[in-house]
Amino acid sequence: MKLQAAFAIVFELAFAIRTAFWPTLLAIWKSPSLLLHPQQLSRLLFSNIWVFFGPVTDENGKPFKEALITPNAYGVVLDIGAGFGHTMKYLDRTKITKYVALEPNTNMHERIRHTGAKEGYTEADGTLVILSYGIENTSSIRSALYGQQVDTIISILVLCSVPNPQRSITNLVRDTLKPGGAFLYYEHVLSPRKDVAWWQRFWAPFWSFIFDGCRLDRPSHLYVDQVKDRDGESIWKERELRGVDGESEEASHLFEHRIGRYIKA
Ligand SMILES: C[S@@+](CC[C@H](N)C(=O)[O-])C[C@H]1O[C@@H](n2cnc3c(N)ncnc32)[C@H](O)[C@@H]1O
Repeated sequence: MKLQAAFAIVFELAFAIRTAFWPTLLAIWKSPSLLLHPQQLSRLLFSNIWVFFGPVTDENGKPFKEALITPNAYGVVLDIGAGFGHTMKYLDRTKITKYVALEPNTNMHERIRHTGAKEGYTEADGTLVILSYGIENTSSIRSALYGQQVDTIISILVLCSVPNPQRSITNLVRDTLKPGGAFLYYEHVLSPRKDVAWWQRFWAPFWSFIFDGCRLDRPSHLYVDQVKDRDGESIWKERELRGVDGESEEASHLFEHRIGRYIKA
């Protein structure tokens, strides 16, 4: 991997810190007790970063999301790590009965409501539900959905941030996705190239510190691919997993993506 590519991330980190610094400092000024709550502070910092990074990241992923989400999502959709709810823009409204945003960072919720209002999903008519849990809290998610399983789970750039991802994904798919339901996946992952992976592991602690726990070195595509049912069999009856053309060969950046469409048996 070229050194120039390996160090390009420094500019992204610097930009993230610069853009989020003042709004975060202002919030600390207004509420100094934030300093005693590192998780709240980290989430606040990330939500301020996402105001700038979110729309750009969304635009970069647009062709892949259009191809993945628009034709395949249906019924009740659970968007894990919903962020500002960008996923709603790609849903075919005529096929969706409810959009459930799972977003533990409550600083994001107002913007989810804003996106929902534009895309035709509101809490008032029950087509938008916002849950503040992490994906690891499957029992709370099921209770909030009144025990009902969902038709579609969408996972966009979130599994990098989830604690115990392998266990969390397994429990989530087993408990909250209907048989025959779709799991749609677009994530950045650990590169199969040894040189790129080395740099991903090198930068992971710095990136994770600023970006609320996001790890550059997670092979989350393998975790999803390998989810098993309680009898130890693959939980999927259909699985399609692919990379993004050209990304791997170029190795021009540390964010190598995988796109997956899975159907539960
Ligand atoms: C990089 S953002 C992506 C947001 C959105 N999916 C998008 O594509 O615009 C990752 C999101 O995952 C959320 N997140 C972090 N840990 C989580 C967890 N354990 N369970 C669910 N969401 C989580 C973060 O709060 C953040 O909003």
